Amino acid sequence: MTRVFVTRAIPEPGMRLLRAEGYRVSVGAKDRSLSKEEIAKKGKGAHALISLLGDRIDAGLMDAIGSQLKTVSNYAVGVDNIDLAAARERGIRVGNTPDVLTDSVAEHAAALILGIARRVAESDRFVRRGRFTGWEPELLLGTELKGKVFGIVGCGRIGTALAHILAKGFGMRGLYVDAKRNREAESILGMQQRPLEKLLEESDVVSLHVPLLDETRHLIGSREIGRMKRSAFLVNTSRGSVVDEQALVRALSAKKIAGAALDVFEREPKLASGLAKLDNVLLSPHTGSATNEARSRMAEAAARNVIAVLSGKGAPFSLVA
Ligand code: GLV
Ligand code: GLV
Repeated sequence: MTRVFVTRAIPEPGMRLLRAEGYRVSVGAKDRSLSKEEIAKKGKGAHALISLLGDRIDAGLMDAIGSQLKTVSNYAVGVDNIDLAAARERGIRVGNTPDVLTDSVAEHAAALILGIARRVAESDRFVRRGRFTGWEPELLLGTELKGKVFGIVGCGRIGTALAHILAKGFGMRGLYVDAKRNREAESILGMQQRPLEKLLEESDVVSLHVPLLDETRHLIGSREIGRMKRSAFLVNTSRGSVVDEQALVRALSAKKIAGAALDVFEREPKLASGLAKLDNVLLSPHTGSATNEARSRMAEAAARNVIAVLSGKGAPFSLVA
């Protein structure tokens, strides 16, 4: 019997595809994430594992599950939670879910940008606390985005989708930094490539869209934040560790930049101390891809990766190792 272990329930469209293959599908938990020990114990003997981005899948865990394990299919585009080298050594294929969440994440980044520029969450708190006593000429003034400059750090699928919204929708001008030239962004959106330092100096909004790798860990620290305009906003929907969160809290407290909007955190779900006390931050709980549309497609993509590896049926959605 082919066994698929899903560490935590994912949307039904993915579960349905797996069951239709006749696999024995078991789910670790419906409403909480499992510890590493629980994944090892409950997942033992599985041929495929569907994991969440918070599940740390390392060599020890792969071995504990057993040598029959053929694939780890991550229910996420980022795969920084999986030891890819260990998977390769063991012949374990690793899947992810790119493309299907691109627009949802880009729209969330746009929501965060509007939210921090126009102080939306702060305004909501203000009204709920009964502090709205009448129209005021200078109440909760924000920043207009039209004609301002945005800087995309990592101009791949998501970065480019966000650039479309900001350039075409808001009339902003775009810069990007990426190892690769992005000709679509240049020709369609009029974006210009810059070294990181220049992008930080010139942008009014800096949005991060790089994967978490050794080279991108703490890509944005106090030196980099120090290059940004005092009026600029930093937005992160990628991975928390791309930013040195302590350095960011210090910079925000000292008003070195105008604000930050964060969907991801260095020690998720923990926040850096002092972060939540600041008014010039907007926070969301890693919900960039959290739309019904994206999450259903992600579940199907994760299931397709499993089916392609275990049964050789259909093309895999995306295998990164
Ligand atoms: C979300 O952060 C993902 O990597 O899918
Ligand atoms: C990830 O999906 C990216 O390329 O931005």
